Parts: sequence; structure tokens; C-alpha cells
Amino acid sequence: MLNEQLEKIKTEALDAITTAGNLDALNEIRVKYLGKKGELTAVLKSLKDVSPEDRPKVGQLVNDVRAIIENRLTQEKDVLGNKARELRMKAETIDVTLPSKRNVLGHAHPNTVALQEVEKIFTGMGYEVISGPEIEYDEYNFTKLNIPANHPAKDEQDTFYINKEIVLRTQTSPVQARVMEQGKLPIRMISPGRVFRSDEVDATHSPSFHQVEGLVIDEHITFADLKGTLAEFAKKLFGEDTKVKFRPHHFPFTEPSAEMDVTCFKCGGKGCRFCKGEGWIEILGCGMVHPNVLDMCGIDKDKYTGFAFGVGLERIALLKYEIDDMRLLYENDIRFLKQF
Ligand code: DAH
Repeated sequence: MLNEQLEKIKTEALDAITTAGNLDALNEIRVKYLGKKGELTAVLKSLKDVSPEDRPKVGQLVNDVRAIIENRLTQEKDVLGNKARELRMKAETIDVTLPSKRNVLGHAHPNTVALQEVEKIFTGMGYEVISGPEIEYDEYNFTKLNIPANHPAKDEQDTFYINKEIVLRTQTSPVQARVMEQGKLPIRMISPGRVFRSDEVDATHSPSFHQVEGLVIDEHITFADLKGTLAEFAKKLFGEDTKVKFRPHHFPFTEPSAEMDVTCFKCGGKGCRFCKGEGWIEILGCGMVHPNVLDMCGIDKDKYTGFAFGVGLERIALLKYEIDDMRLLYENDIRFLKQF
């Protein structure tokens, strides 16, 4: 009787294992047949009703069936485990032949590209690159640069005043005063940076733009050094055939002062649409550092002389890349930026 029952349990259990299909179902089968309240355990409990001489035999049989079921369970568990792993691997397969996801790369701004070129030219001539504060004392932005209290450049229409003493710098020239005051001579530096003026936005104006200041102070520096240096700068920036001309001008912090023009790199000086028929393009302001400025910044004006210049960075970028509207530089449209 028990024999038959055991045989039935075994067949049922093995069938169930074969068709289980997943690890959860397998576990349920284990509980159903081998668990504390399982069918085999029930048989074991009923051993007490078997005659004592038959008990060892039947007991042995129960254990055999249990071992067989256990073996099958372990075997099937391995099979199902492997299957599950394979399925997972398949799901996680990377198809290396699929096109890759593209990283969206930004692009250096034309101002940055232009600045890097300017820095390369001047560091190549032994200049240091120095930065100064964008929020500046009125004293450095104006007074120490020989711009007196009643000078029109100080007009509220040009200058963003924070209070009576502090302004958003209108030019990079105050860095000249800061460097001179440190008293380490000789000086050979450029100072690029952002400047601010109360201007309306149009194709050639913006309330915030960039300049690069230059300053050289040493013994025996003359206007010839200024001309030679800036002519070389223009050639490196716009091409070897570029010629320069200096027109007298006025800046409070230089004497004499000049504006420098370069021959139009589009037409070579003949006159074209690009240079508005002039053949020349204005590029920067410059001059010999005014003795008053040397004096106010603690430099012996009888021993030292120097020259300075200031160039608009946007102007260089616009010219170099033939961009006709400054506003394009501030929109940060990647489709525009990518072209340079
Ligand atoms: N700071 C002047 C401006 O913003 C430009 C300039 C002119 C700078 C002559 C100089 C210079 O250093 O010597 O218009």
C-alpha cells in the first residue's frame, strides 16, 4: 500500500518538476513534496502504522524517493537557472553594429578663438597675460589714467556706476595702473577682459564687450618700438602682406596718441565693400604712456617710458571671420558658432 503511494508521489513529483518551467514553481514543488507538511513527510509520519519488521525497508524506500526527488530538483534548478541567465544575457546584448549615440559637442566662441590668437602672438614676444577686476574703482578706471573729474568719458551715459567710487570698468586700461603700481619693472603685458558701457545694442554696439589692453614700460622705449610691435601684431593676425598706418588721435592716458589702421585683408588696400571703399580698417588705439600716468602710478618718468594699446576683441573676431553683425556673437547659437 505504502509502496504504491510512494511510487505515485515520486511519479507526480518528477512530472511536476519537469513541467515546472521556473524557479518559483520549483520551490513550490519542493514544499509540496518535501516540506514539513509535505506529502513525503506525511508518509514518514504514517510509518508508525507499519509493522516493526517492515519499517526499515519502508523507511529506506521513503528516503530513496526523497533523494530521487531532491536530485531532480537540484538538476532542474541548475537547468532553469542557466536558462534564466541566458535570457538575461540575450536581453542585455549590445549590438556593436548599431550607430552610436552622438555626444553633442560645443564649439569655441569666435571671441575665444580670436583671443587665443592674440595671446599666442604676444606671449610669443615675451608678454605676460594678466587679468584685472571687472568691477573697478572709479579712481583706476579714470583718475589714475589722467581722466579728470569733469571728463566726458565719465558721463553717466557711458558708465555704469555702482556708487560714486565704484564702476563697471569701461575699458581694460585700469589694469595698466594696477600693474604699474606693483612696481615690478620692466613691464610687458597684455590684459584681456570684459568691459561695460551704457550703449544700446545694435550691429556694432553692445553694453558689454571685450578688449585686450597692452602695456610695455622700460628704459628707452620709443614710438618706434610701438610701431614695430603693433605692425608685427597686425601681420601675424591678418597676414604677412598687411600694412599699418597711424593716425594722430587723442587719449588722455597717452601722449602722443594714435589710432592704427590695417590694410583691408579682403582687397589688399584697393577699396572694397568690406572696408567701405577705404582700403583701410581701423583696428586699435595706442600711444606713449602719459608722464602724468607714470607719475600717479609711482614710476620714475625721467627714467622710464612706455607704450600702451587697446584693441576691441569683438572687432577682431568680426573682421577676421567676416561677421557683419555683432549681435550674432552674443546669441550663442551653436549653428552659428560652429562655422568658425
Ligand atoms: N581704453 C581705450 C578705449 O577704450 C583704448 C586705448 C587707447 C587703450 C589707447 C590704450 C591706449 O592703452 O594707449 O577706447
